[in-house]
Amino acid sequence: MLELKDVRKHFALTKGALLKRRIGTVKAVDGLSFDIREGECFSIVGESGSGKTTTLLEIMEFHKDQDGEVIIGGISNKQAADARTKSAMRKEMQMVFQDPTGALDPRFTVYEVLAEPLQNAGMDKRAIKKRIMELMNLVGLQPDHVNRFPNQFSGGQRQRVGIARALAVNPKLVVLDEPVSALDVSVQAGVINLLDKLRAELGLSYLMVAHDLSVVRHISNRVAVMYLGKIVEIGEVDRVFDNPRHPYTRALLSAIPVPDPQFERTRERIILQGDLPSPLDAPKGCNFATRCPVFAALPAAKQEHCLTLEPPLEAVQPSAAVEILEAGPAPTPDQQFACFFPDGEMDEQMLVVHETAEPHAP
Ligand SMILES: Nc1ncnc2c1ncn2[C@@H]1O[C@H](COP(=O)(O)OP(=O)(O)O)[C@@H](O)[C@H]1O
Ligand SMILES: [Mg+2]
Repeated sequence: MLELKDVRKHFALTKGALLKRRIGTVKAVDGLSFDIREGECFSIVGESGSGKTTTLLEIMEFHKDQDGEVIIGGISNKQAADARTKSAMRKEMQMVFQDPTGALDPRFTVYEVLAEPLQNAGMDKRAIKKRIMELMNLVGLQPDHVNRFPNQFSGGQRQRVGIARALAVNPKLVVLDEPVSALDVSVQAGVINLLDKLRAELGLSYLMVAHDLSVVRHISNRVAVMYLGKIVEIGEVDRVFDNPRHPYTRALLSAIPVPDPQFERTRERIILQGDLPSPLDAPKGCNFATRCPVFAALPAAKQEHCLTLEPPLEAVQPSAAVEILEAGPAPTPDQQFACFFPDGEMDEQMLVVHETAEPHAP
């Protein structure tokens, strides 16, 4: 469905208004390779600044001068020299944005918002009207709401309009950048369930960035964990969440919200110390070493290894697969991670225990 081969996006940082002097490079996305299968939901998780949005935008770009290859439905961006191929391929993928308010022009009614991509696709008036009614029904909006303006809707309804617009021209791949983060918690589940249902009914593939890891687990088939422009772990979502191997994944997963609200309020979370280092001066060797709780507990000789060599993204070792087999769930070879010492002890000193909020008064 979609394949990325060694996609890179580096931003040049310049100083000075007149004589732009290059002072460095931000490696926002640094050599990404993964594929998305037909009909699956593939999610990307990672802290803010890890390069998730840049990855999505690189895929949507789809032109031949990109650094790296993007292949959609067997057609590579390197072949997409002419404008027609390019626009045809771009039609196959549509994006749903985080903030539906910003993505919808307040001067246009829902009808106009939905009609635009259909007009561009060359549909006549009657076909457009019919398709818009279909779309309203599909995303659970009342047909007579087509004449409303975006600001007459709630956030959840507005995001449904955003989804309808993305689906208007029957894309194969829908790219979702934090589709529910801007919505009230009370309507998030409704939108997530809608997305899940639409994917099954319409046979769509999703590429999603999401913050809420319980949402990711609920809706995704596979997940990639990104850190500083690179994938540190990738695999089937249940497999990765039940048996995370990379220390970053392990730390990230320790912050999963728990469905019990009473417990959630008082629950302790483990948060990594320190901020994401600037991708400007990304460390040599393993990117994560500066914050890695396993690295901190390693003997010096092993630390040297982490600091000088970059760990490749590799499949789970056979010995680990056997352990999992004995433990119950069937092993799939579908888990890779980039760490030399995945089974190292975590150094508690590197983890800060945080309270999420004040305990709730009864
Ligand atoms: N247009 C740009 N120019 C310079 N740096 C950028 C630009 N866009 C993103 N970056 C940088 O690239 C890194 C990754 O950003 P982004 O993809 O937005 O991360 P995420 O979506 O995971 O939060 C960040 O360090 C960000 O500051
Ligand atoms: Mg982002």
